[in-house]
Amino acid sequence: MKILPDVLGVLTDPRTVIERDRIYIPFELDNRLYERVNRTLREAGGRWDGRRAVRAHVFPRDIESFMADAIAAGEFPSRYDTGWYPTPPAVVEQVLTLAGISEKYPGKTTLEPSAGIGSIAGPAVARGAVVDVVELDEHRASVLDGHGVYRRVVQGDFLSIAPLSYGEGFARVVMNPPFSDALSHVSHALAFLGDDGVLVSVLPEWVNWMSSRACVEFRALLKKHDGEIIPLPQSSFRDAGTNVNTVLAVVSTGPGHTIRNHSWHARQPKQLDLFGSAA
Ligand SMILES: C[S@@+](CC[C@H](N)C(=O)[O-])C[C@H]1O[C@@H](n2cnc3c(N)ncnc32)[C@H](O)[C@@H]1O
Repeated sequence: MKILPDVLGVLTDPRTVIERDRIYIPFELDNRLYERVNRTLREAGGRWDGRRAVRAHVFPRDIESFMADAIAAGEFPSRYDTGWYPTPPAVVEQVLTLAGISEKYPGKTTLEPSAGIGSIAGPAVARGAVVDVVELDEHRASVLDGHGVYRRVVQGDFLSIAPLSYGEGFARVVMNPPFSDALSHVSHALAFLGDDGVLVSVLPEWVNWMSSRACVEFRALLKKHDGEIIPLPQSSFRDAGTNVNTVLAVVSTGPGHTIRNHSWHARQPKQLDLFGSAA
């Protein structure tokens, strides 16, 4: 849901307090603006509690990081916008640690192929990675561009970008793709990984047991390459507005791997243009 500019003005007013599960707006709003603010906060899951000891919008969860993301993006995932669930800081920390992205080893070329507003990509830059981001949504891509910290910001459909459009493979891929097509995103992202690379992805927990062909093949790939599926605590994405259970998948392209990564694609013979017109 987009946050209207005047509502954003109220939420970013220095007098407004966003603390744990509450938002306090301790100043008068005219009726129409109050209605718009109230509608926005209700859509984010809050409800007005007018008791004298409270007098705040109260949420069923901690909303500090959710609201920080929402204010930065000028929008938030609501029940009408199912594709964008920013990764909460505790999960981001785990993703980056598993990917070995740290200040100790700066300069790792890293791809975030469905970057939202940079909840993973931003902290990766802060830890010294050189990060390229892709994001389908125009508005979120412009937010990423505005950060001015990424090597490259591409607005578009990641699934339609050819891996060889990059001269060499990335050292790391970190991602939390749209769950509606999660494994297509992960398979495509593997094609951007160089040798000795690591991909870490947030995924829905059902990749562990679903019998679809994509899931079966994905589990076989992980098994063959000593990959891992690490469960995340229940409700890890609660603050982002969803209770779907999640895991982290880790895959590496170590020595002897047979993953169709960037180098594999680069080794493929160029298609002969058998049907091309004669000169
Ligand atoms: C679950 S959100 C996660 C955002 C970000 N990765 C994070 O961790 O906060 C998925 C994001 O993928 C974007 N997206 C969906 N389909 C995409 C596609 N085909 N190519 C690139 N981005 C896509 C959505 O707009 C959304 O911002």
